[in-house]
Amino acid sequence: MVAGNWKMNTTVEEGLALARAVCAAVSGIDGVDVAVLPPFTHLWPIHSVLEGTGVRLGAQDVYWKDSGAFTGEISPPMLAGWCDLTLVGHSERRHIFGEHDDEVGRKFVASLAHGLQVIVAVGETSDERDAGSTFAVVDRQLDAVFAELESPPSNDDWVIAYEPVWAIGTGRTATPEQAQEVVAHIKQHVRARYLDGSPRVLYGGSVTAANAASLFAEPDIDGALVGGVSLRAEEFGVIVAAAAEARSGTRDRV
Ligand code: PGA
Repeated sequence: MVAGNWKMNTTVEEGLALARAVCAAVSGIDGVDVAVLPPFTHLWPIHSVLEGTGVRLGAQDVYWKDSGAFTGEISPPMLAGWCDLTLVGHSERRHIFGEHDDEVGRKFVASLAHGLQVIVAVGETSDERDAGSTFAVVDRQLDAVFAELESPPSNDDWVIAYEPVWAIGTGRTATPEQAQEVVAHIKQHVRARYLDGSPRVLYGGSVTAANAASLFAEPDIDGALVGGVSLRAEEFGVIVAAAAEARSGTRDRV
């Protein structure tokens, strides 16, 4: 899976043009689940652009209540039926907007309850990494989500994105080995909790056309959540092609 998180970028017009360019850049590439996550204002018009292209549509955040006096928020029922997925727990939500682990868990459950696939992002800050607490931090963030769940979601309904905070938008990508180590740990943690639970786990943080292939070559990395580069359709297309290539390479080995 390769998902492009546009963050707070593009006007509606620019977003429509970018969505068209992304569809063109990835057309003909098979075997990769591609999604774009534009700002809320763009979702409805972009939904029409994506129709029939195979590129899926996601929201960058969502609230956990269905409706009510929650000024500025967007609820899962507002997205359900035409928007495919939500992203919850992005580090910018956690660190700029002060979102807590339990709120992320509620958003996760609310998305699933309305039939939206959900990507939950987890990751440590550089201080946490330096203190040796990377695994403890991602475990805590995941456990807060699990605490809200009554039963394990089916594997296709959720995706985890491992995004070390120090690698996001900094140009300082985790090395493939660093990313692999934490992604493998996350998979183990999920399996320990949910026996056969095996959602896809993506890596995010300064993924580019130049480093994607080496990240995808790692055995446990199932794709990428791409920020800055997702605003450049052609380069985003190169990342999708690298994912397709890695996938067919895996098939050849099996
Ligand atoms: P970046 O962002 O690719 O610009 O580092 C990744 C993300 O925040 O999902």
